[in-house]
Amino acid sequence: MFKPYKIKVVEPIKLLSRAEREQKLQEADYNVFRLRAEDTYIDLLTDSGTGAMSHAQWAALMEGDESYAGARSFYRLEQAVKEIFGFRYFMPTHQGRAAEHVLFSTLVKLGDLVPNNMHFDTTRANVLAAGGQPVDLVIEDAYDPSKEHPFKGELETHALEALIKRDGRERIPVIVLTITNNSGGGQPVSLKNIKAVSEIARTHKIPFFLDACRFAENCFFIKEREPGYSKKKPLEIAREIFSLADGMTFSAKKDAIVNIGGILAMNSEELYWRCVQKLILFEGFPTYGGLAGRDLDAIAVGLYEALDEDYLRDRIGQTRYLGERLKAENIPIIEPIGGHAVYIDALRFLPHIPQREFPAQALVIELYREGGIRSVEVGSTMFAKRDEKTGQEIYPKLELVRLAIPRRVYTQEHLDHVVETLREIREQRAKMRGFKLTAGEGPLRHFVACFAPLR
Ligand code: F0G
Repeated sequence: MFKPYKIKVVEPIKLLSRAEREQKLQEADYNVFRLRAEDTYIDLLTDSGTGAMSHAQWAALMEGDESYAGARSFYRLEQAVKEIFGFRYFMPTHQGRAAEHVLFSTLVKLGDLVPNNMHFDTTRANVLAAGGQPVDLVIEDAYDPSKEHPFKGELETHALEALIKRDGRERIPVIVLTITNNSGGGQPVSLKNIKAVSEIARTHKIPFFLDACRFAENCFFIKEREPGYSKKKPLEIAREIFSLADGMTFSAKKDAIVNIGGILAMNSEELYWRCVQKLILFEGFPTYGGLAGRDLDAIAVGLYEALDEDYLRDRIGQTRYLGERLKAENIPIIEPIGGHAVYIDALRFLPHIPQREFPAQALVIELYREGGIRSVEVGSTMFAKRDEKTGQEIYPKLELVRLAIPRRVYTQEHLDHVVETLREIREQRAKMRGFKLTAGEGPLRHFVACFAPLR
């Protein structure tokens, strides 16, 4: 495989002994968010903010202009934002969820509905915090882990139209499309689907926003899979995508390959000024938005690096390498393999552990115990909810363990260790037991939850 970079700076990592790992798990109440990063060997908790910046990005940091208002760094970022995303107005934010907060707290009222192909945890929580109801309208195939579909992150447009018809456009302040669909396996959305959603939004005069965290990866999939796009550059595809939307929320910690930062952008001047009020209150003046000037420069450079085709081929290639090797070991994963992560289907891998005993969490724990690997549960801890009428727990359709791959950080040897660890776990999985939740509630409980092993 052609590798489009070499290593310039290294960070030592170590593998604790098995006894030490067992102790760390106990001390963390079996929640890997409570582990220290230095106690993990391979950290696949997230691809967010964990990428390695390039020499060009580090050089750009030194160019940073730290003025409170009107810094040069802002105008350099503005140029990149204009060229790639094309929206008329934008503001930096300290990360993606801050952009969500500013947008949703401005647009969403009590009782409103916010459709999305699939909300990620903070997006969902931000809609709820604004008094809205998040509605997931991803295509049914997305819930079948082994079903092949080139664009498994697509939104079901009939369901969107039915929702608008049933509840009225007045109750829907914004339609969102997440590219790629993180909660459903890092799956892309086709331009065809983006166009269809855009048209529905336009017909009903509802603002259409993209949650664009992994837009460059989505562009790569369009180039590879959508008829008519194989000769287009990722940048051209990106411009077409964003021309169809009224705005976006963006976490620069993903496809701008920086360690902190976000963007909120829109075409509406009226909405811009309403959001600016919130931004100044919660984030900062609109030319820095909670970031340092140097951060804005690193984003401006990283946005272009993430659209580089060699980079994207290597990036998606690493995820595919890990996914293909796991498949060869009969580890059930979401297929096709997504962009930023490989997702293990815990329901098929651990059929003897019922969802109420958190099978995906059990596998997350086992990955750390067996191989010092940190992953994240995208399952019942994150998304189970109680039915208000019956008091019964409703479990999500997907119970996943996500192995998120930081950008430009790990080598093939590191990924091989993940495969070997999972092979070991596969051999003894019948002995694995579930967990009991002992603390943690609300839509973000997974960050703070405590668990106890069941015997
Ligand atoms: N939207 C999506 C689809 C995300 O995946 C994330 C973050 C956000 C919004 C929020 O961005 O972290 O900069 O505030 N996802 C990370 C993850 C945390 O691990 O998938 P943020």
